[in-house]
Amino acid sequence: MSQDRAAVLAAIEEEVRACTACRLYQGTNNPVPGAGDPHAEIMFIGEGPGFHEDRLGLPFVGRSGDYLNYLLNLVGLNRDQVFITNVVKHRPPENRDPSPDEIVTCKGFLDRQIGIINPLVIATLGRYSMARYFPDARISSIHGQPRYDTDNQRVYYPLFHPAAALRNPGLRRDMETDFHRMIEVLAKVKAMRGEDAPQSEAEHQPQSPPPDDKPEEPPQQLRLF
Ligand code: URA
Repeated sequence: MSQDRAAVLAAIEEEVRACTACRLYQGTNNPVPGAGDPHAEIMFIGEGPGFHEDRLGLPFVGRSGDYLNYLLNLVGLNRDQVFITNVVKHRPPENRDPSPDEIVTCKGFLDRQIGIINPLVIATLGRYSMARYFPDARISSIHGQPRYDTDNQRVYYPLFHPAAALRNPGLRRDMETDFHRMIEVLAKVKAMRGEDAPQSEAEHQPQSPPPDDKPEEPPQQLRLF
């Protein structure tokens, strides 16, 4: 079964690699389909690949990714235990916002990734993925507030985009609180699915804050909330 999920995700990756359905593939170095555990309980959905992601073909590997790793570690997780992807799979030029038509064109890939992984928690990072589940909401009002989907027995969980918290240190405490709460929410949704509750959250010593040693990415994601 694990093999099956991995194989289906790999097939989706191949389709993303060959995709020319919108203009975004033009001028990119690599597609960024997503990465992580095919059986992940938590799936993070960001906005779109940036400079570093385009270079490596992996999501959240720049400064935002360093901060995301730090937050995962804070609640006893690492990125191999979750699945991380974006609403668009190729880097928008100059890190501009993805346009509505690009998001719609790419939606099928994300829908299929969600379908095959069937995560218990879908955590949105920033306003574009949030808009899939919380249209017209403001992230500053709803971050950290779960919405339980009893039909699919899962929860949608809106988070600030890590880049927003890096730009605005005043958001970091909320971001950390929201990550801790996400683990409680995961336990509730597991109970909803009739699965065992997870071990109590392993309290890890937070790593030192993300290093600032990567070259600054080109200006990006300026209007995240
Ligand atoms: N920001 C995103 O939204 N996604 C990434 O993969 C990297 C930065």
